Amino acid sequence: MECRIFDDYNGLSDAAAELIIQIVERKPDAVLCFATGNSPVGTYRALAIKAKERGIDFSQCFCFGLDEWLGIPPEKKGSCHYLLYEQVFHPLGIQESQVHLFDGLTKDIDMECRIMNGEIDYAGGIDCMLVGIGLNGHIGFNEPGVDMELRAHEQELHGSTLASGQLYFNEPTAIAKGITLGMAQVMNARTLLLLANGISKSEIIHKACDGPVTNEVPASYIQKHRHAVLMIDKEAASKLDK
Ligand code: GLP
Repeated sequence: MECRIFDDYNGLSDAAAELIIQIVERKPDAVLCFATGNSPVGTYRALAIKAKERGIDFSQCFCFGLDEWLGIPPEKKGSCHYLLYEQVFHPLGIQESQVHLFDGLTKDIDMECRIMNGEIDYAGGIDCMLVGIGLNGHIGFNEPGVDMELRAHEQELHGSTLASGQLYFNEPTAIAKGITLGMAQVMNARTLLLLANGISKSEIIHKACDGPVTNEVPASYIQKHRHAVLMIDKEAASKLDK
């Protein structure tokens, strides 16, 4: 695991965007996977600006979404679908045909998961997966205690996830479950880019990096990933042992 600590959120966002650009420059048909949440917003903003300035071509890339709230329509502001189109796909000129996302309104969750797994296999796996970390150490919606062998699956969400999730919506929204790529897919990403910023993430970053590797802190598996890059600001890094 490579850990890079930045003075502030802008530095972190800039470096994360650069890393994604490097991957796409090296492999124009790269397979990318994006999380939503607050952590990557600056990265997506920087990516859009840099891509425009430098004419980075995303037209051969294929993109997956990491997770989605079950029961939330794609057009609803706050859904992962809505946010990914707004923050990533539209600014980068990525077309619908280059994207596969979970359908939060699916009536057949098993089928939805099988289709997602099949699409990832068909794409040849994920070159770069950008993720955040939940306050309880989740990645995507892989909550503490998750079976590490799982691929796409449905997940009952924990209290802290529901509380922070509510903040992505501009009105009170009934959320209870999520659908997510599994830890097997997180661990299989050829590059795993994990972003965290702010003092609120310092304790969980300490646990994930310095603590034992355990499914009680899914993000602790970053220590075992073959190519994980952790980009954090000084505040999130403030409780690290070294
Ligand atoms: C959410 C999402 C994750 C996200 C994480 C951290 O529940 N399911 O994909 O990465 O929590 O979010 P944030 O970056 O807003 O702290």
